[in-house]
Amino acid sequence: MKEKLEQIREAARTQLAEAQADLEAIRIRYLGKKGELTGVLRGMGQLSAEERPKIGQLANEVREYIENAIAEKAEAQRKDALENKLKNERLDVTMPGKAPEIGKRHPLAQIQKEMEDIFVGMGFGIVEGPEVEYDYYNFQALNIPENHPARDTQDTFYITDNILLRSQTSPVQVRTMEKQKPPIRIISPGRVYRSDAVDATHSPLFHQLEGLVVDKGITMGDLKGTLETFAKTMFGDQTQIRFRPHHFPFTEPSAEVDVSCFVCGGKGCKLCKGEGWIEILGAGMVHPNVLRGCGIDPEEYSGFAFGMGIERVTMIKYGIDDMRYLYENDIRFLNEF
Ligand code: DAH
Repeated sequence: MKEKLEQIREAARTQLAEAQADLEAIRIRYLGKKGELTGVLRGMGQLSAEERPKIGQLANEVREYIENAIAEKAEAQRKDALENKLKNERLDVTMPGKAPEIGKRHPLAQIQKEMEDIFVGMGFGIVEGPEVEYDYYNFQALNIPENHPARDTQDTFYITDNILLRSQTSPVQVRTMEKQKPPIRIISPGRVYRSDAVDATHSPLFHQLEGLVVDKGITMGDLKGTLETFAKTMFGDQTQIRFRPHHFPFTEPSAEVDVSCFVCGGKGCKLCKGEGWIEILGAGMVHPNVLRGCGIDPEEYSGFAFGMGIERVTMIKYGIDDMRYLYENDIRFLNEF
């Protein structure tokens, strides 16, 4: 029996020496109810009274040995696992990190915001109008009846015969005057559409910023002062503006407005194509027909309006010579602003 116990101790030792030893299986094999050591203890009854305590003591020693060895092994295995985990999951905190990309406003949106800020600073409110518009607001109410030649230059995309994608932000003038009685002082930035082929200066979708002021006693002088303040704030203090007579059906008189080239100061350079001046917008005094159509008495009130291209202002300000850059979303281009 003594030999048997020694054998058990030795077998357990060998098994526990293995790195991956299955401790629970070993425990059951030797110490479990039907385990080998338990088997030996059960047979103790057959021993002589003199042998029994010796064997009993040895059996206890073997049991204790196996129990301790299992516990030690469990601890060793736990440490090993932890060490492995630490080794495998090690983070090299000195590796260069991946900086999260922080977005920013598109150059067009930056300039739109700048323009808005300038006019808000002068007391204008910002209103929005629909991009899908009635023919009535886009043309008729702006003194452009059916078959008027001005429609040719603003051909757009039609949804039905009388619903279209607006070709200008000017319809917001009418929508505003219908809803709100003077004094009116608003700007309205937004997308407009024309059926133009894409090239360096054309796009079927672009952006305008409309302005409208209606009150008693508004004159062309107010228009000039407002636009001059805008131009100086946008392009620099030395900037001058120039009015050239023009025709728009919804203003009378009408003008195209240029700013002095802020690169050459008027001498002529690449940006202004040798002109010294750069056209930035159309403007004029609101036509009496337009006021009347909105229920505003032109004998009592007068107003001015203007509309400018946001792309145009952006391209001038940043010296961009091809409009397509603004829509291609090439991150290398956008990151320059
Ligand atoms: N809507 C015109 C265009 O797209 C620009 C314009 C001219 C707007 C004169 C105005 C204005 O408000 O008074 O060509």
